[in-house]
This record gives sequence, C-alpha cells and structure tokens, in this order.
Amino acid sequence: MKKRQFLGAILGAAAFAGIVPSAMAQEKPFKVGLLLPMTGQFATTGRQLEAAAKLYVQEHGDVVAGRKVELIVKDDTGVPDISRRQAQELLVKDKVDVLAGFGLTPLALAAAPLATQSKTPEIVMAAGTASITEASPYIVRTSVTLPQGAATMAKWAPENGIKKVVTLVSDYGPGIDAEQSFIEEFKSKGGEVVETLRVPLRNPDFSPFLQKVRDIQPDAVFVFVPSGAGAALVKQFVERGMDKAGIRLIGTGDLTDDDLLNGMGDDALGIITAYHYSAAHPSEANKQFVDAFKKANNGMRPNFMAIGAYDGMHVIYEAIKATDGKGDGPALLAAMKGLSYESPRGPVTIDPETRDIIQNIYLREVKRDPADGELYNIEFDVAEAVKDPYKEAKKNK
Ligand code: PHB
Repeated sequence: MKKRQFLGAILGAAAFAGIVPSAMAQEKPFKVGLLLPMTGQFATTGRQLEAAAKLYVQEHGDVVAGRKVELIVKDDTGVPDISRRQAQELLVKDKVDVLAGFGLTPLALAAAPLATQSKTPEIVMAAGTASITEASPYIVRTSVTLPQGAATMAKWAPENGIKKVVTLVSDYGPGIDAEQSFIEEFKSKGGEVVETLRVPLRNPDFSPFLQKVRDIQPDAVFVFVPSGAGAALVKQFVERGMDKAGIRLIGTGDLTDDDLLNGMGDDALGIITAYHYSAAHPSEANKQFVDAFKKANNGMRPNFMAIGAYDGMHVIYEAIKATDGKGDGPALLAAMKGLSYESPRGPVTIDPETRDIIQNIYLREVKRDPADGELYNIEFDVAEAVKDPYKEAKKNK
C-alpha cells in the first residue's frame, strides 16, 4: 500500500467512526480569494484594499477557530471577464471558502452567478452600485451604496443655499445611482437639477463637461467619480476658475478620497461631500486604525476603500468564529447576516434582509489641520444608521 493510500484508509476509518482527529481537520486552511484591481486605472483601489485586508490579519492573527486564514490575491486589472475567470479558478482550483474584494461594480457583478452556483459568500468590499446585492443571495457588502452618500448630500444642499444644480457623474452603475438618488431627494426638497452630465469611465476628459457647467452657472455641481479620479477633476475645476465664478463643488466622498487628498493641495479646500468614512473620524478605534495602517504601509493614509476591506475581513472572521471553523458557504452567510459592531468608521450592521451595510453617513468639509498641515475631510454633521435608500424605496412601493 502506498503511503497516501494508507493515510486515506486510516482517515476514512476514523471519519466512519466519527472521530476525525481535530488536529487533522484544523490543517485545512480557510481560504479567502481576494479579487482586486492591482494594476491599471484603478490600482489605487486594489492597493488600499490589499493593505487593509493584510493589516486586519496581522492585527487579529491568522488562526481563527482553529483554521489558518490564507489570503489569495488575484489582480483582475479592473476587467470583468478577467474577474469572472479568476473567480472560477479560485473556486475550482484553490477551493476558496469566500470570495472578496471587488473594486468596481462590473467586477462584482461578473462573479455573482458563480457565488450563487457554488454557494460561496461574495464579500463586496468596494463596489457601490445599490443593486449589486440583488445579483446573488450570497453577496454581502461592507463598502457603501452610492444612494447612501448621494441622498444625504441632496438633503444638506437645499438647506445651505444650493437651489440649482448640475450633476456630473461617471457613466456606469454607481454614477447613475448617484445621479438618480441625488435628483430624487434634491427635487423633493425643492431643488432644481438643470442638467445631467455623464462622463465615460475609462480615461475620462472632464474639460468639455466642466465647460458646460461653467456656461450654465449653477449654484453647485454635484459629482461622482470613482476613487482615484477626483484629483484630475478638482484641478480642472479650479483651473477653469469655476470656484471663483461662485460655483460650489459637492459630491459623494469618492471625490475627496483620503488617498489623494493631500496631492490636491489648496484646490480641495472647502469641498463638501457626504460619505461613510474619513481618516479624520474622531474615534479612538479610528485613530488606532489609521496609525496602524500608516505604520504598515510607509505612511500611506487609509481611504474609504481600505475601511471596506478591513470591515470585510472582520465580517469573515466573525463568521468563522460563529461557525466554529466548520461552516460551509450557507452557514457562513447566515452568520454574517445581522452582524453589528463598532467599526473605525462608526457603528455598522449587516442588514439581515438585504445583506447591505447600514451605517452612518457623515457630512464633511475639506480643511487643513494646523497640527500636521495635512488636508482632511472634517466631519461636521451625521445621518445615523442609514439603510440603502434604493432598497428602502423599493420596499415602500
Ligand atoms: C464602483 O464601481 O462601484 C465604484 C468604484 C469606485 C468608487 C465607488 C464605486 O469610488
């Protein structure tokens, strides 16, 4: 008998007797397949997500309920076909327990049917189109939905002298979500949206669109661009003298992404955005998170993408613990639903009905901190425990 056959026979007999030795069972690692855009236009997102996931493991240990947690990072380059192929490979070849990451909406959607077929939780740590969670009952989101940010911004604007707005968004899922939810809420509060502009996602040139905004002269332009694109837009906005012409720049927090904020310089001062995470969020948990993240990453500041991955790992760890390291996909999913805890961003809950995140949305203004001379999104108001407005509206129809 060959050695492997012999071992197999022993294990088979042991399993038959119901006495699989725990040391053996524990040898099977718990694998998390992380699909991230590590190269290409959205590489900043991949870099933030990877750094935060690794920090979580470093801080909380890589053994949970007797299982060694293994992160397998794949670079999907931001292309949906590649994301789908890699998800397939992770499921079939690596036999991952969980799929996670998903830096852009089309990437999350590409993997969704595979999550459903294989009954594997898909933790969306970054993408923000509201409907994503409806693409598979195995999707759990730890990032944000664009309507959470946009509707909160739309409530604030008309109470603060902004009555006439042009919207300018990236022309795909999250941009359209941001545009639609902003318009709906803003109009219901008496505001007027005079023009809606949509900019291509890939290699955008904002100048013709900004020129149009300038010609219209609204009180404000409401912007959604994905993380990484904000600096170019803000620069062109100021170069055109639009701030001096009295047009205000508002948006979801993607625009003043913490990763890029310091690079924007004084151009960014005074921009008001609404979102779920600021590196300047004044809590002890956040201070610890920001300090540890910077220390582990050469001074890089975590942005809202990072907190999505950090909390995504938390949800995975809690599910492993709750199922005592033995949970299959459906058991892990069940353990994730309804989870509630204090994140560095503030209190969060995974909505057991929708598997989307319920969280505070903060209003923030870009200011320079005299203490370290750096730019931050300084929170000045909060909408508490915001559920995804898109799904709330559907429920109430
Ligand atoms: C998305 O594709 O869903 C997405 C990407 C970047 C963001 C927000 C949403 O900043």
